[in-house]
Amino acid sequence: MKKIMERLQEKLSAAFEKAGYDKKYAKVAVSNRPDLCQYQCNGALAAAKEYRKAPIQIAQDVVGLLEDSGIFAEITAVSPGFINMTVSDPFLADFINEMAGTERFGCQKAEREETVMIDFGGANVAKPLHVGHLRSAIIGESIKRTARYLGYHVIGDAHLGDWGLQMGLIITELKKRQPELVYFDEAFQGEYPEEPPFTMADLEEIYPCANGRSKEDEEYKAEAQEATAQLQAGRRGYLALWKHILNVSVADLKKIYDKLNVTFDLWKKESDVQPYIPDMVQAMKDGGYAHIDQGALVVDVKEETDTKEIPPCMILKSNGATLYNTTDLATIVERRKLFDPDRIVYVVDKRQSLYFEQVFRCAKKTKIIGEDVDLVFLGFGTMNGKDGKPFKTRDGGVLRLEKLLSEVAGCVEEKMAGREMEETIRKDAAAKIGLAAIKYGDLSNQASKDYVFDMERFTSFEGNTGPYILYTIVRIKSLMNKVAEQGITVPEDTKILPAGDKTQTEVMLALSKWSETVETAFEEYAPHKICQFVYELSDAFNRFYHENRILANPDDAVRASHISLCRLAGKILETGIGLLGLEAPEKM
Ligand code: ARG
Repeated sequence: MKKIMERLQEKLSAAFEKAGYDKKYAKVAVSNRPDLCQYQCNGALAAAKEYRKAPIQIAQDVVGLLEDSGIFAEITAVSPGFINMTVSDPFLADFINEMAGTERFGCQKAEREETVMIDFGGANVAKPLHVGHLRSAIIGESIKRTARYLGYHVIGDAHLGDWGLQMGLIITELKKRQPELVYFDEAFQGEYPEEPPFTMADLEEIYPCANGRSKEDEEYKAEAQEATAQLQAGRRGYLALWKHILNVSVADLKKIYDKLNVTFDLWKKESDVQPYIPDMVQAMKDGGYAHIDQGALVVDVKEETDTKEIPPCMILKSNGATLYNTTDLATIVERRKLFDPDRIVYVVDKRQSLYFEQVFRCAKKTKIIGEDVDLVFLGFGTMNGKDGKPFKTRDGGVLRLEKLLSEVAGCVEEKMAGREMEETIRKDAAAKIGLAAIKYGDLSNQASKDYVFDMERFTSFEGNTGPYILYTIVRIKSLMNKVAEQGITVPEDTKILPAGDKTQTEVMLALSKWSETVETAFEEYAPHKICQFVYELSDAFNRFYHENRILANPDDAVRASHISLCRLAGKILETGIGLLGLEAPEKM
């Protein structure tokens, strides 16, 4: 289904040509003066040079051919040579009706079944989650859903960090506390116990303690590094401990992601790709890509066009140890082998952008992935507290996600205290609204920007917030319930009539932008565009709702048309928030 812009573009192109001008000048854009018109074309200004004519003359020639086309309520040539356009209500209504009857409301399906992998979440096993992990989960989930909606074959991978120093730290601390554990007995040949020797709560205490000690005590740190190396070299007892840590920690992570309504298709881990490393390193050497620099094995990745220094990508340290780089490169090897992706999108803190630039260049240069595979870095900014520093919970501790969620839900519940509803329904609603507050507060900002987590503002039922969008959806749902209660039947395919007032035109105009919004939100990895869309639509809808008595309309045909429009707005809003990873409650 062609977009409004495309339709206008065609009409304008034809008119430009008919008037004797090149159609390349017929470029249509959304108006930057919505108070004056909906769309505009500035091509006459550019054409003026080629045709040595006053731009206004060209604009008038074109406008003269379009005045009676039936598409425009208004089309005018404005000095010095703009063409301002406002589409007619019948044209808009036709468009909306076509949208209503089209799959995905007119969004174009991905041209071929491209496989898109999304590397997001990136939690570290046994280490506390921080706000960066929260952001990655929220943004990645939205990108994943949007791509899937558009028909891409999407694989979301949690890419857990489970192969680093944190493991050695935990093992070392455990050894100090319980040296008698069988895992430390190198002579032990039997089966290790199935029950882990710690709980998640223990791990939450052990890791920060070990981490703190290693920062103060060099010897302790060396021990932890040695334990990490032994684990990586395959020491049995340590591998058994690592498995326990993994199991306990992943079970906990699954609970948290569940609460966030975030899901992964794969729960792959850094450790999974270690077996690929020896061959990968060998191939890099054989291909002549890698060389030794001060004992370390590196691949140069700088390019002539660089304006800043891009250091070489280090593959092996001088002691032969692997790095974060090595694992990420090996992960690309594995992804290619198992899934053959057309693109991989990494949703990671923007402070890792140089790092990923090195990794991507190295992967392409060493041919572990083809030139045609798109490696995308979607870097996000920091979620700060009101003090401008990375967000912490009220008690100042590291972020416990469950705690954040329950704090926000609590704040929402306070706001809903006066409302009459069953306790279970209230709890469910508060949880959904709270989650929407957090996610929308995050997603409504351009991902790369830092933003301030403002509990009061994010949970407000008014303004550009998640709760406001949910409120609009709940309002539509309750309207639809009333329609049903009053026995009014409005078949699904009931045509929407041309708008009867300005508020209704605005709703339709907002709706008409659905397909371009969703498509660009994916192309540009920009969920904030979907937020903007649902906000504009909600706002327009609420104005329409206030100006019109929908159920009490004396004209049956108009009433049916209004109801049909409300229903469509409801469906599209719900689809929109679905792409953002939010869910609306029944009541609020
Ligand atoms: N675990 C990493 C961290 O906490 C994030 C992983 C990002 N993804 C990747 N493929 N490196 O910083």
